[in-house]
Amino acid sequence: MSASVFAAPEEKGLIDPRNDAYEEQHPDQYHSWRATSESEHIEDALAEDPNMVILWAGYGFAKDYNKARGHFYAVDDVRQTLRTGAPQDESSGPMPIACWSCKSPDVGRVIEERGEDGYFDGKWARLGNQIANPIGCADCHDTRSDEFKNGEPALALAKPYVERAFQAINKPFEEQSRLDQQASVCGQCHVEYYFVKSEKNAVKFPWDMGTSVEEMERYYDALGFKDWTHKVSKAPMLKAQHPGYETWREGIHGKNKVACVDCHMPKVTKEDGTVYTDHKVGNPFDRFEDTCANCHTQSKEQMREIVSTRKAQVLNMKLTAEKQIVAAHFEAGEAWKAGATEEEMKDILQDIRHAQWRWDYAIASHGVHMHAPEVALEVLGTAVDKAADARTKLVRLLAKKGITDPVELPDISTKLKAQQALGMDMDTMNADKKHFLETVIPQWEAEAEKREATY
Ligand code: HEC
Ligand code: HEC
Ligand code: HEC
Ligand code: HEC
Repeated sequence: MSASVFAAPEEKGLIDPRNDAYEEQHPDQYHSWRATSESEHIEDALAEDPNMVILWAGYGFAKDYNKARGHFYAVDDVRQTLRTGAPQDESSGPMPIACWSCKSPDVGRVIEERGEDGYFDGKWARLGNQIANPIGCADCHDTRSDEFKNGEPALALAKPYVERAFQAINKPFEEQSRLDQQASVCGQCHVEYYFVKSEKNAVKFPWDMGTSVEEMERYYDALGFKDWTHKVSKAPMLKAQHPGYETWREGIHGKNKVACVDCHMPKVTKEDGTVYTDHKVGNPFDRFEDTCANCHTQSKEQMREIVSTRKAQVLNMKLTAEKQIVAAHFEAGEAWKAGATEEEMKDILQDIRHAQWRWDYAIASHGVHMHAPEVALEVLGTAVDKAADARTKLVRLLAKKGITDPVELPDISTKLKAQQALGMDMDTMNADKKHFLETVIPQWEAEAEKREATY
């Protein structure tokens, strides 16, 4: 069993990243994969909850953040988000190359052709014409292996940095059971990661000390790592990405080795009696009979009820934590204005950093209310506690500086108002993005088409 798509011998040729190339060979898998395009609805997470604009002040996520949709849209969505900006040439734009890493099988192709060093180099726009196909076959399979051609493929990792991460937690991919691998292929992307600034912003998973919220926090603290400096409080912040794999591991299903695939990619039986794996990764409730009902006797309605109750509980605690952390950011901002010193602020900013990291860890893993609701609630509880520590210290510090009235918050009742409160120029950002999509993207697409015509 090969661990990595790169383990294929030379004579097998280059990785073909085009999902369409496998339609004829594997029609059932291809068509169900393609059906991820049916999940096309875009949900604006900042409009739903403008607190998040403040929590991410000074960072890209305050500009724009949509909830996840089908894998089919991964490339479109990373081009369209305001977070990747409007680069006009290969070296402009805010984001590094790393932002392509979980969007496309072209990433594995480019890493194989140029090495990790040749991939993680420079800005996101440098490989705009190279990354063209959304998440697909070559992200989870060695499409050049005989097993794949025969219809019995092993699962494979498409990124060397993922292999290293599994080694760091003593679970080398090639030694994992099939069940573990069925979660690990998803864990290539649905995880916490960061960019190593000293190594061309290469992707690394912060797992050297373990995968729990405290272990990763300790890892980041020991490294003195921060993703950005908060615009209002000046706290050295961490952005949790989407630690879905880590939170799943700690939940009841993960502990019982019920893998992502058991719920999101069930085996289904066709009319002619043959069985294949449904590649339409989406909401497991849409295929209840092939997912939950394989192991549980409750009805779909009962199960939905349980899950939606947990969703409401997690949402409620999320908002409770946000209220405290948002207030802490503004109070810290006031303290700076009142002449607080670095020394006076140090502990407070560390509390804010930890509070928000925990909040983000708990909620950034989409579906956490299903995967590990007890973990989310517990971690959110600690976030509230850390924010309370910060605010207790802030009240004292502000009093020392002669401020005894409560700090007033600006109007952040809508996404736009919250962005205005931070002085963000959304009109310019949106106009630049529009121009980028109209001028640069067609060039990238034409160049990709020309290259792919030679495959
Ligand atoms: C997100 C990961 C992922 C992607 C993307 C993916 N597969 Fe799979 N594939 C799996 C998993 C998981 C299985 C189940 C088998 C297993 O557990 O090893 C599987 C099984 C298969 C099988 C074996 C027969 C079956 O249905 O169980 C074929 C053939 C296959 N995939 C083809 C494809 C093709 C073609 C594409 C692209 C259109 C693709 N896969 C994309 C994860 C993936
Ligand atoms: C190569 C990276 C990658 C891999 C591998 C991957 N995902 Fe994803 N997944 C993403 C990204 C990126 C999105 C968001 C796409 C968007 O919104 O444009 C996403 C979205 C999703 C969604 C939301 C779909 C919807 O319709 O709302 C689910 C569920 C999901 N993934 C589950 C899985 C599971 C389960 C696996 C493993 C079988 C997996 N993913 C493998 C990157 C990946
Ligand atoms: C026991 C079943 C089960 C397992 C195991 C499971 N999921 Fe889920 N997942 C669900 C259900 C059900 C939902 C939708 C919850 C809802 O409707 O509120 C979901 C939601 C999601 C979402 C959010 C989709 C969205 O559009 O917001 C992502 C992403 C996701 N799962 C990825 C994963 C990954 C990655 C794994 C493995 C590490 C995994 N899931 C394991 C059942 C499962
Ligand atoms: C492959 C088998 C399997 C599948 C598929 C599966 N589960 Fe489970 N589920 C388990 C096991 C095992 C447990 C733990 C049983 C125990 O400890 O009693 C569990 C426990 C649960 C619990 C109770 C534990 C808790 O958190 O309170 C709920 C609720 C649950 N599952 C919901 C779901 C839903 C919803 C789905 C479909 C989206 C699903 N499960 C799919 C095997 C499965």
